[in-house]
Amino acid sequence: MSVPSAERSRAVVGTSINRVDGPLKVTGTARYSAEIPIAELAYGVIVQSEIARGTIAHMDVTEAEQLTGVLSVMTPDNTPKLESLQRFEREGGKGARPTGRALSLLQDDRVHYNGQPIALVIADSFEVAMHAASLVRTTYRADTPTIDMVGALPSAYPSMAKIYGRESPTSRRGDLQAGLADADACIDVVYTTPMETHNPMEMHATIALWEGDKVTLWDATQNVYGVRGTVAKSLSIPPENVRVISHFVGGAFGGKGSAWSHVVLAAMAARQVGRPVKIVLTRRQMFGPVGGRPHTVQHITLGARRDGTLTALRHDSTSSTSAIEEWLEPAALATRLLYDCPNEETSHHLVRLNVGTPTFMRAPGEASGTFALESAFDELAYALKMDPIALRLKNYAEADPDTGKPWSSKSLRECYALGAEHFGWARRDPTPGSMRDGDQLVGMGMATSTYPARRMAASAEACVYPNGRVVIKAASHDLGTGTYTVLTQLAADALGVAASCVTIELGDTNLPPNPISAGSMTVASTGSAVHLAAMAARDKLVQLAVTDPDSPLHGARHEEVEIIDGRLTLRSTAVRGESFEQLLERNGGRPIEGKAEAKPGDETQQYSMHAFGAVFAEVRVDRDLGVVRVARMVGAYGAGRVLNPKTARSQLYGGITFGIGMALMEHTITDLRSGRYVNADIAEYHIPVHADIPPIEVFFVDEKDEQVDPIGAKGIGEIGITGVAAAIANAVFHATGIRIRELPITLDKLLHPKV
Ligand code: MOS
Repeated sequence: MSVPSAERSRAVVGTSINRVDGPLKVTGTARYSAEIPIAELAYGVIVQSEIARGTIAHMDVTEAEQLTGVLSVMTPDNTPKLESLQRFEREGGKGARPTGRALSLLQDDRVHYNGQPIALVIADSFEVAMHAASLVRTTYRADTPTIDMVGALPSAYPSMAKIYGRESPTSRRGDLQAGLADADACIDVVYTTPMETHNPMEMHATIALWEGDKVTLWDATQNVYGVRGTVAKSLSIPPENVRVISHFVGGAFGGKGSAWSHVVLAAMAARQVGRPVKIVLTRRQMFGPVGGRPHTVQHITLGARRDGTLTALRHDSTSSTSAIEEWLEPAALATRLLYDCPNEETSHHLVRLNVGTPTFMRAPGEASGTFALESAFDELAYALKMDPIALRLKNYAEADPDTGKPWSSKSLRECYALGAEHFGWARRDPTPGSMRDGDQLVGMGMATSTYPARRMAASAEACVYPNGRVVIKAASHDLGTGTYTVLTQLAADALGVAASCVTIELGDTNLPPNPISAGSMTVASTGSAVHLAAMAARDKLVQLAVTDPDSPLHGARHEEVEIIDGRLTLRSTAVRGESFEQLLERNGGRPIEGKAEAKPGDETQQYSMHAFGAVFAEVRVDRDLGVVRVARMVGAYGAGRVLNPKTARSQLYGGITFGIGMALMEHTITDLRSGRYVNADIAEYHIPVHADIPPIEVFFVDEKDEQVDPIGAKGIGEIGITGVAAAIANAVFHATGIRIRELPITLDKLLHPKV
């Protein structure tokens, strides 16, 4: 049935409405977890280890405890042992940890990295707690730590665990050696990416409040149900006794995807002192105890015939993890599917270091992996004297080369064309160093972007009130990404009401269960559930109208009814109809509820689902000083249905900005002797500021994908960063003839290039 144009023109999905939470944020009304006003609040400050490996010999807390206002100093000596962890240890540490991640909950005297939480001071005020924390005197029996990734490479071992519980850490097809023997050109090089730290604007923060045997946590998290599970299991209490609230999150990028030590410690401390406790990490404390991107060393081997046809493709990635937990950056995953090559091998190895356990950081794997792969493709293009886009098109994967499955949709060819056109790729003289602007060497580079289109089971409730208002409930999260806004749009369209009639409730375990807001899955997962819940409510409304003898729509066929601006009418004659208010008041004045669960089905077996894009960078490199400035960037993406071009573009701007930081600045530096995080603040840990960010143009290829999910959206939180570091590195090579294979690309590397 064709949709009347009047209804289509009213559709809110696909329009650039402003963020519905914008006014709350710009007026300071939005409350973040650390800002919740709680009576009788006490303040927890974490004391961190000052060595990277060893045991605590003695902790002197006398001075700290004597300070007026100090309520408790929790140390491994006096902190109650957690039954859950004791049982886990007794059973040999097998199976899933009750704490999820390997946390530091003051259960023993061992130190595994510099900055590990070793004590917690709780006081009446933040200032007293800070001062008391500085008075805790600790002596250690220190062992020699392993800090240097490069030095520790010989200890690398194969990662055995399935990646995200699904994918094998290794892959192999065809015969790599035969492919190399068949090649006219070969690239065999090593790329490295450094440790990076998320540095969201909002610090990690948790407030814990016990009421009887129930605890409420206001936590800066991407995963309220996940935090609930971790806290419940750690403390051996039923999950129903834990409520987690996260209404607003000031940036997360994967760092807030796990419940880290301070979250459980807040609950333990609040129980200990019998008062609500707030722990807010300092910027410095966000280096180490709450994850970051690990160091990667990636070996890429490519073989190709003269015409560019790939004959061999190998990607072996080694990444750092901690002494207490295995965490893998799956950098070679995207390599399996990006190009059609008959002979391919990928592998992942780990190196244990005395550093904080790494974690998800924006496009974990794809961001670091595409730097290596897409740089290597550029090197191959030069070796073959081929245009980099032509080389990629020559090896275009028409189906997923890893699984053989068809793509649910793929518009990468269109992305290359659209991006190249808007960027002006045709103006590029391929000879390195050939384009100049005064003292500035001009470089143009490009790379392919990709990120999986995943989703997880999600649920939602839609409630239509007699006054015409719609309330949507789902325990998902808005990390600053626009979740509140696009869910508003989906609900408005499903129910035929204006966006201003919709209220979205997120971030509370009292709401229907939803997955972690990560992996670019939120819109596909929660958005689908909201759409289906709103459609279920719509069905009930229509059913009520057509079966109610007093309704002007009585007896109409269900499909004949449409809803426009909160009024049910007949498609044929809009004069016949009534408002939600009239219908619901006449039927008892109760709200109508729709519920839905949306989860992936068979389509995941039948199709390979990914978003793709092409990203282009122009750089200016100072001929004498080696300073690199990005002059402009263009990205073109096929990412399914775009629900809101404005918030979608913002996601891509953010991802590309993150990519510029990755390419040129971000680097968590550890002191190789002490394991201390050297640049643990945003004065010394450089991330882009406005002046570093050039004009960025983002384009979307109109893509209809009926397979990925009921709303056709692929997710755009992470694809933006992928490929960016390679596009910039490739542009730097084009400008200078110097190939930098070690991020970040800083001027010292350009002035004194390694040969
Ligand atoms: Mo993202 S790194 O999956 O939050």
